[in-house]
Amino acid sequence: MQDKVLELAIRRGFIYPSYEIYGGVGGFYDYAPLGAILKKKIEDKWRKIFCIEEGFYEIHCPTIAPEEVFIASGHVKNFVDPLVTCENCRESFRADHLIEESMNISASNMSYEEMSKLVKQISCPNCGKKAFGDVYSYNLMFKTAIGPGGKRTGYLRPETAQNIFILFNRLYEFSRKKLPFGITQIGKAYRNEISPRQGLIRLREFTQAELEYFFDPRNESIDRFKLYENEKLRLLTRENKEFEITAKEAVEKGILINEIFGYFLALTKRFLVEVGIDEKRIRFRQHLKEELAHYARDCWDAEVFTERYGYIEVVGIADRGDYDLKAHERHSNVEMKAFVSYEKPVTIKMKVFELNLKEIGKTFRKKAKEIIKELENADEKLIEEFEKKGFVKVCNEVLDSRFLKVKEVEKKVHGEKVVPHVIEPSFGIDRILYCVLESAYRERNGKKILSFKPDIAPISVAVFPLVSKDELKDIALELLRKIRARGIYAIYDEKDSIGRRYARVDEIGVPFAITVDFDTLKDSTVTVRFRDTTEQVRISTAEVVDVVEELVNGKIKFEELKMKK
Ligand code: GLY
Repeated sequence: MQDKVLELAIRRGFIYPSYEIYGGVGGFYDYAPLGAILKKKIEDKWRKIFCIEEGFYEIHCPTIAPEEVFIASGHVKNFVDPLVTCENCRESFRADHLIEESMNISASNMSYEEMSKLVKQISCPNCGKKAFGDVYSYNLMFKTAIGPGGKRTGYLRPETAQNIFILFNRLYEFSRKKLPFGITQIGKAYRNEISPRQGLIRLREFTQAELEYFFDPRNESIDRFKLYENEKLRLLTRENKEFEITAKEAVEKGILINEIFGYFLALTKRFLVEVGIDEKRIRFRQHLKEELAHYARDCWDAEVFTERYGYIEVVGIADRGDYDLKAHERHSNVEMKAFVSYEKPVTIKMKVFELNLKEIGKTFRKKAKEIIKELENADEKLIEEFEKKGFVKVCNEVLDSRFLKVKEVEKKVHGEKVVPHVIEPSFGIDRILYCVLESAYRERNGKKILSFKPDIAPISVAVFPLVSKDELKDIALELLRKIRARGIYAIYDEKDSIGRRYARVDEIGVPFAITVDFDTLKDSTVTVRFRDTTEQVRISTAEVVDVVEELVNGKIKFEELKMKK
């Protein structure tokens, strides 16, 4: 099945293997003309659901970042796979996978030392010799140098998310300093995969659509949950239990940790169904503890069942907690917090310094003003230090009980600073595109059809003159011009029999074909044919552009149109 889908996708201009004339490079694919439109339509559907309808904004950032970013995020240390190289043929393999496949035992919890011992007993799948060296850590990020001379190390981003975390303070301000808010990014990410041999499923350069949803950890509810609470979700928990349950029940029973998870799982399902994936093939699988990424406290993958690979992960919905903001706060020394107001101000008892202003002024003279300012704004840590040591060092001066003492006061506070938590739905657009192609693939009477949803099909309309005669061609070309002027992708074809032309456009998934025939010259009507049923209706030339636009946008279904006529 996969081979048939890939064969069609390459032959008819959806994707091409990259750098083909130089022998190709694994893990890279080009989007050919139809694939590029399909990808854009999938991304636009994502934008509609996750940006426009939610009121979240999209940003676009550089794909190269300095090393500091990924030291802070933990990727330099943790974004690694255990690798082993055959000392005979120099072929490398993922050590845990090699052990699992050759010895049929799970290596996910093994140390590098344990794996090193085992791989020595395994013959290299490439050359057959038992010549594996020790297992070592392989970082999946592409490393580069920023600027000449290699002064600054950079990495191609392995996820789009880090750009959003780094910009937290600016984005918080843009969001008028209110939680919750969401920021999205659709863009390229890069992972130097060890042996990517699975078409669009494992790419070294791929497109992610990511949403970072920042919220107050003390309020894990989401108003809009009501809209989706009855959506049925197929869940596979980490206890290996698979069942169907509504989003609401899953939250109430504590299977999903909060409404935000329930909401984004349901929204994800809606998106996957709207791009054309059969809902029966979609399930959400909870990560096992040992499989969680270094930043994640919990994660549910949306998986789609494919004929070729079985279930594949297409979306990861992760609870990143405050991991990233705290990490960047620590490494950059820039505070990354939000101010959260209380419903009512509360009165708290707190310790402050009581200053002997006269003594400070007399002793420190010109410096006194600066010292007073520091002490008036002293935080808990400084006060504790004074209580412990009997003095504090401020502005390079030592101040003891001659200058200050600690007193307790009551203060009205209106809120507090918190590090927001983040839930991140992260979509692999290329994998989703493969699933859309596979879901659309059909065979009818020995012919291939891509049965895309009308609003997802790369080309929405085909316009044909029944035969290549000027009177018919002129009308067809005029209709083509009008349809394209509406922003609809349409093609024109006058070559070969009408049957062959229908077959050609069925194969690339064009949902509607308009044919101008000899009756058009008599009664100004044309036929509109629906790809999936091959049924036709006659529509007046005056109406047909409006009708086709409604069909393409899904405002009317072909069956409804047929009933009306
Ligand atoms: N941001 C999640 C991931 O890249 O896997």
